[in-house]
Amino acid sequence: MRGRGLEGAVGVDRLRVYSVDDESIQVTWRGSDDGRLLIGAGPAQVEVTCAPSADLRRHARRTWPLDRHAWGPGAAVLEGLEPDTEYEVWVETAGGARGTVACAKTLARPRGALLYRLATLNDIHIGERRFGLARNFEDRHPLPPPGDPYPLRCARAAIQEAVAWGANHLVVKGDLTRDSEPAELHAVGRLLRAAGIPADVVLGNHDVRNGVAAADYLAGYGIDARPVVRHRDLPGLRLILAHTPGPGDRWGQVLPGQADQIARLARAAAGPCMLVVHHPPATGPVTLHYPPGIYHAQSQGLLRRLAAANPATIVVSGHTHRNRVGWSHGIPCVETSSTKDYPGQWTGYRVFEGGVVQTARRVQAPAAIAWTEATSRAVGGQWGRWTPGALADRSWSLVWPVPPPS
Ligand SMILES: [Fe+2]
Ligand SMILES: [Fe+2]
Repeated sequence: MRGRGLEGAVGVDRLRVYSVDDESIQVTWRGSDDGRLLIGAGPAQVEVTCAPSADLRRHARRTWPLDRHAWGPGAAVLEGLEPDTEYEVWVETAGGARGTVACAKTLARPRGALLYRLATLNDIHIGERRFGLARNFEDRHPLPPPGDPYPLRCARAAIQEAVAWGANHLVVKGDLTRDSEPAELHAVGRLLRAAGIPADVVLGNHDVRNGVAAADYLAGYGIDARPVVRHRDLPGLRLILAHTPGPGDRWGQVLPGQADQIARLARAAAGPCMLVVHHPPATGPVTLHYPPGIYHAQSQGLLRRLAAANPATIVVSGHTHRNRVGWSHGIPCVETSSTKDYPGQWTGYRVFEGGVVQTARRVQAPAAIAWTEATSRAVGGQWGRWTPGALADRSWSLVWPVPPPS
């Protein structure tokens, strides 16, 4: 897979190929000189009405425009493309200027029929009021209606866009709340109940604070978030959901008894498995990033058992608010970015008989992307560089390995 943006073309700033899959490309940009854009690739084209320019608002500091352009950040999806094919992406402005702005290659399509579409969110952190290391990024953009704070409107827009994409099932990978407050958990319940598709949830470290039984609150909305190892069989994929928050606030854990349960479920599956956890397993000998995931020895024990039980398994997690794919024991361990801070995304999986395709999509709703784009400036701008990962972390196609004879 491949994708690159060509800077400065036709007055569109920082246009990037954010994701590709076997049938579509998503491009995103920070700002533009023109309020209406026509964007195309191959047989696909889409007309975009740009959002007003976004501002950078920090507590007790002056408000700055995020970008020098008259119109704000945006995104567009070009659909109906051929797999494994190179495309040039072009932009045409209302003034008639037209230029090629990026090149991208779509992913190979796994063999066999498309069986299912699954969408995941993580780290929605309902209840958060400010963002950044110093918690000084404020949400006072004029676009959102009053009383619609950024975590809620980003998550709502993500779910709407995932459902429009065709998601059959939603999985939320923890850190639903800021602080396990009952009001936050009720808001999560209402949000997921309104999704209109079934949802499964694992809890994160932010959801188990103050002795609150988060799963009991969510059960009242028909959402299964029990802190146990459990499974759900979907067409073409067995979901295994496991509770990883440890007794501290940051590290995750999978105790040997849990790992045995997970391996038994993976071995008994009729086909491929997706293990859903909040904390990522450690795939290397040393954890070099913050926040840390599952303890190293426990991670390696889990992945060794999984590889022996069912090599057609992927592990998906959240917690780090970044996109990354690490491999250990032949098992891909996939971290994905948060919905409510840069880059602000949901993640889709198209499950085929012969494999799976992941595509990460930035949430496109103007009131969401205006906020998430501003948060790229957090941590001195490092947040915008660290969290998206590489295109290969966001968009990949995997052929299921043939399981060993039983
Ligand atoms: Fe989080
Ligand atoms: Fe977390």
